[in-house]
Amino acid sequence: MRLFVTGGAGYIGSHAVLEFLRAGHEVVSFDNYCNSSPESLRRAAELAGRKAEAVEGDLRDRAALMEALRRGRFDAVVHFAGLKAVGESVRQPLLYVENNVVGSANLLVAMREAGCRKLVFSSSCTVYGLPLRNPVDESHPRSALNPYGRTKLMIEDMCFDLAAAEAGWNIALLRYFNPVGAHESGRIGEDPAGIPTNLMPFVMQTAVGRHPHVEVFGSDYATPDGTGVRDYIHVVDLARAHLAAVENLALFAGAEPVNLGTGRGYSVLEVIRAASQAAGKDIPYRLAVRREGDAPEVWGDPALALRKLGWKAQRGLAEMAADHWRWQKQNPGGFPRP
Ligand code: UD1
Repeated sequence: MRLFVTGGAGYIGSHAVLEFLRAGHEVVSFDNYCNSSPESLRRAAELAGRKAEAVEGDLRDRAALMEALRRGRFDAVVHFAGLKAVGESVRQPLLYVENNVVGSANLLVAMREAGCRKLVFSSSCTVYGLPLRNPVDESHPRSALNPYGRTKLMIEDMCFDLAAAEAGWNIALLRYFNPVGAHESGRIGEDPAGIPTNLMPFVMQTAVGRHPHVEVFGSDYATPDGTGVRDYIHVVDLARAHLAAVENLALFAGAEPVNLGTGRGYSVLEVIRAASQAAGKDIPYRLAVRREGDAPEVWGDPALALRKLGWKAQRGLAEMAADHWRWQKQNPGGFPRP
């Protein structure tokens, strides 16, 4: 297949590009590198033995998008590009609307112009808000806790409305739980700009000495050890789910959501323990107050992904931590910045 991949240089995008290349697909990445580096695409090419074409471009530039899409005669689009920092979205909501919502609208318009109606979109378990029950399945009511989450809801709604209005669209809305880990080579991985807000990258940066300790946000939740529980999923498992989705888009009648998680939760302390084991050293942490807006526990029901895509996560927490650590140790400062 010929695949147009937005955000192909990002954390999840680069791992998916590697799987697409390995499976023999042609890939064009469209990325503005606002939170990524073209170095990830070079390394994915090195690992795959073939490379993706890299186009530097911004989703807000509809003309550039149309030009890139029209030139390529693509079979499908995989849309990773977007901003994802919750706190930043509270401070700069319009930035999130412009990049995520307007950017996605531009992409859908350009796809229609180019005659391509097959899309895989990076949604998130954030669309479930504070879960009413666990595990969360795709029929769970949706709500947003912050402007970032609202952009994911708006983009999903745009896809539902479009698919209802026009025949011929096949759209997979992939709702990720908490992606962590890295490719087993340690050559590509997560390289967040600034201080990470997510747990695993913060824990790993603490292990290499970039922070004095991890703050555990809340130790008085009604969970087995009192700390928050999440469904962490290895990024390589996630990347393989994208390969399954893109190769089976015909099964998606209109726009349909699918959870991508492992179906089990781990606590913050379990994550810190697994990371300490992987790194072979104690990672200092302190119990702190709850972070506003956090759910006590969230884990997904992965049954639909198995039924529809024949996909199931294979890697557990120890492997997630070992692979994330290998990447962090080999690249303590992330990708080299130009
Ligand atoms: C967060 C976002 C979510 C987004 C996802 C992926 C919030 C409220 N939610 O999910 O919308 O889709 O990232 O980017 O930000 N924790 C600590 N110490 C830390 C960091 C985190 O104890 O320094 C805890 C949290 O309280 C939580 C768990 O670790 O229990 C996971 O946190 P995080 O990695 O930020 O993911 P989510 O909050 O689940």
